[in-house]
Amino acid sequence: MVADQLRVWAPGRVNLIGGHNDYSGGLVLPMAVDLGTTIVGHRGHDRVVLVSQDEPDPAEVPLDVSDPAGVTPAWARYVAGVVAELAPTTGFIGQVATTIPIGTGLSSSAALEVAVALALVGDDRVDRRALALACQRAEHRASGVPCGIMDQFASLLGIEGHAILIDCTTLEVAPVELPGDVDVVVVDSGERRSLSTVGYADRRAEVMRAADLLGHLPDASLSAVEELEDGVLRKRARHVVTENQRVRDFVTAIGKGDVVVAGALMTESHHSLRDNQEVTTPALDSLVERLVATRGVHGARLTGGGWGGCVVALSDPGVLDEGWTVHPSAGATVEPL
Ligand code: GLA
Repeated sequence: MVADQLRVWAPGRVNLIGGHNDYSGGLVLPMAVDLGTTIVGHRGHDRVVLVSQDEPDPAEVPLDVSDPAGVTPAWARYVAGVVAELAPTTGFIGQVATTIPIGTGLSSSAALEVAVALALVGDDRVDRRALALACQRAEHRASGVPCGIMDQFASLLGIEGHAILIDCTTLEVAPVELPGDVDVVVVDSGERRSLSTVGYADRRAEVMRAADLLGHLPDASLSAVEELEDGVLRKRARHVVTENQRVRDFVTAIGKGDVVVAGALMTESHHSLRDNQEVTTPALDSLVERLVATRGVHGARLTGGGWGGCVVALSDPGVLDEGWTVHPSAGATVEPL
């Protein structure tokens, strides 16, 4: 047996509602799921070396890595991003395996970043918010995608049986208990697009331009939004303002056990992501319409960054026999072996 072996586990997430809301400082309601990434190994040596069950080539990252985006193979960029952010003085040697379908909008990259970060720290008594922010910066450096904070927060701060309501301005997190008598089902559209090669950064820039005109968007009034002259910025701001209200209404509905209203809000969220934020595709839209037309399905929406990937549906138990039925899980763990 090798001394000081660790097992780290970091979950993926689904976002129930609050799509494209984190980078404007709005409200989001993700839950960590029972699909995750595991790293087993030990600290030591002068580099981070990880062998992945899903990749032919290992990640081998020196501790002084300065350009994570230039590292190969591509998956090693996320490892390098974390190493560059945390600047550990000791490396790590181990193996990675994941049960998260990679690149489908369930935050496989955030789970990898979080697992690597906890492996390097070697202890889960850390400031999880600070570690999540470091992992977010790692994602920016690795992929060039200016993602918000939702995915890394969900992976580190998830609570079993609950979704988490994140205020992306204050970074406060509140648990929202989910009723036991509904299923959360993730269905893959089968469409794949990398967020870096499409409009995620454009959307973020447009939302920021709208905020320059209206101030902090989550506090803007809908009437002020509707007066914006620029039609594109008006749609983006309308999405943020209405989505924020939908998140609040969803939390209220779920608190009362009203899954019919909660589901309808999810479907409205998808329609706003389609019409205002313009991040969906015909395949995602028809998948949502097909799911919500199924008896016992209360609502469905795009769950990740968009332009492909997965849809999340809220349904009566056992109604859907496709996709993954996921369960709200606790955040990442570190376990000595
Ligand atoms: C991706 C990003 C998140 C968030 C979602 C959209 O998952 O990583 O920060 O912006 O898209 O809600």
